[in-house]
Amino acid sequence: MGSGIYVAGHRGMVGAAIVRTLETQGVGPLILRSHSELDLTDQRAVRRFFQEERPEQVYLAAAKVGGILANNQFPAEFIYTNLMIEADAVHEAWASGVRRLLFLGSSCIYPKLAEQPIREDALLTGKLEPTNEPYAIAKIAGIKLCESYNRQYALDGVDFRSVMPTNLYGPGDNYHPDHSHVLPALIRRFHEAKEKSLPEVAIWGTGAPKREFLYVDDMAAASVHVMNLPRHTYDALTEPMTSHINVGFGSDIEIAELAKLIKKSIGYTGNIAFDTTKPDGTPRKWMDSSKLLSAGWAPRVGLEEGIRSAYQDFLKHKMVRA
Ligand SMILES: NC(=O)c1ccc[n+]([C@@H]2O[C@H](COP(=O)([O-])OP(=O)(O)OC[C@H]3O[C@@H](n4cnc5c(N)ncnc54)[C@H](OP(=O)(O)O)[C@@H]3O)[C@@H](O)[C@H]2O)c1
Repeated sequence: MGSGIYVAGHRGMVGAAIVRTLETQGVGPLILRSHSELDLTDQRAVRRFFQEERPEQVYLAAAKVGGILANNQFPAEFIYTNLMIEADAVHEAWASGVRRLLFLGSSCIYPKLAEQPIREDALLTGKLEPTNEPYAIAKIAGIKLCESYNRQYALDGVDFRSVMPTNLYGPGDNYHPDHSHVLPALIRRFHEAKEKSLPEVAIWGTGAPKREFLYVDDMAAASVHVMNLPRHTYDALTEPMTSHINVGFGSDIEIAELAKLIKKSIGYTGNIAFDTTKPDGTPRKWMDSSKLLSAGWAPRVGLEEGIRSAYQDFLKHKMVRA
């Protein structure tokens, strides 16, 4: 067996938070490669990397990630890149002797109209949200890759796990004007409206859809927690062909309410308007995280506190990534 923990995607929001958590816990050594040092869609390079480094554990937090607009504009890139990253990393990790791997998926794997709160067994029971279907299909393939390796190589001790986070936010988020998710996009828009003294900020849709948001350091703690659960505990929580675990905050909030919270945190004094010519998307996406809660993890950072901290990070970095 190898040694060291490889965090793939350590420069991303989630990967960086996993690194912070592992460093705080004093575990390692950590094995880190930026995208430019190791392109995970390049199978030969990935094979070379795993054969040379032979990590003991792998956190797979590298992915092509984006909001509705980016998913709509670049569907081919979203499905291709994510399928390739997963296939290369999971297969080459296995081939090099890795026996414990954690794959990060997303709540968009679930059907658009799944019963709420969404349980793990809702996977593949209905049609997906069309705007990010290619991305979601790639993430579903990632779960199925991990569980197929588990099923075929169980006797060799292969134990590849998957976590499905709800919407995440926090330090290191992407605040790109077109390519970001809803919470960081609102932080940016309210901030700019405040700077420019604009009279109102228009929100897409009616503001009625509800979403769940988890602070990224809570997600990182959940990832490390799941990675280190004893095998019998993980196996008791999952099924061989429903092998993923939800990671949510526990409650959701209307987009209109979220906008009010962000407006308050930023100190913007103008109005909030709703552009009802724009689509609302899925009415509600609230995860049932009872499995993980029963296994001893719970979120620690409330939404108001988390937004304040994310805004401080935004001000520090004014991050704009394409
Ligand atoms: N953000 C959320 O709200 C959210 C919610 C649910 C699930 N997740 C999941 O959490 C994981 C991480 O998301 P994130 O928000 O941390 O995304 P992120 O900030 O965009 O980070 C992704 C990282 O992956 C790297 N990467 C992309 N393509 C790569 C490639 N071909 N080879 C090597 N590295 C590559 C990126 O590097 P470059 O920037 O250099 O390309 C980046 O450092 C993803 O699996 C995502 O699905 C995120």
